Amino acid sequence: MTTVRQYESQDEKAFRSIALENYIEQMKESQAVTAETPAVQAYLEHIIGIQAGGKGLVLVAEQENKLVGFGCLQLEGEYAFMSDLYVTPGKRGQGAGTLLTEKFEERARSMGASRIALRVDADNAGSRNFYIKKQYQEKFVVMSKALGG
Ligand SMILES: CC(C)(COP(=O)(O)OP(=O)(O)OC[C@H]1O[C@@H](n2cnc3c(N)ncnc32)[C@H](O)[C@@H]1OP(=O)(O)O)[C@@H](O)C(=O)NCCC(=O)NCCS
Repeated sequence: MTTVRQYESQDEKAFRSIALENYIEQMKESQAVTAETPAVQAYLEHIIGIQAGGKGLVLVAEQENKLVGFGCLQLEGEYAFMSDLYVTPGKRGQGAGTLLTEKFEERARSMGASRIALRVDADNAGSRNFYIKKQYQEKFVVMSKALGG
């Protein structure tokens, strides 16, 4: 069974490990990166800092006392922004992503937000499909360009 609860400081070791997995998958890293790689360290500190700095909250999904997923939520005006939603590959398709999203929607409402939003890579067809199934609609377009050295 999957359960979702707020991140606690004793989760830190397991959390860093699953957040590193997410970083590697999202960045499509070709080189070997570890928790000591500076960019990874910055990412991990950023994620942990969201809740520690009072800027928002981090929820974790667990199965049999093992972390299988997580995500973050931050309030900006009427919007609650969800970010970094991640379920470990072997545990996908079992409802953990759905449970995390439902809990974020509940928490967003109780924080006073009237809308919930997130940013997703245009080429991340799987996740876009996941959110569309949950009645999320495309509302903004973020434009991006690679800046050569
Ligand atoms: C997106 C993600 C969090 C979904 O988590 P999950 O636990 O697998 O999702 P669920 O099991 O709750 O799936 C819910 C529904 O979405 C669908 N779905 C989930 N991932 C999908 C995918 N990659 N492609 C197509 N459909 C998908 C499921 O089939 C399911 O449909 P159903 O309700 O009709 O059965 C997970 O795939 C993930 O971690 N992806 C990599 C990280 C990522 O891209 N995160 C989003 C950043 S914005």
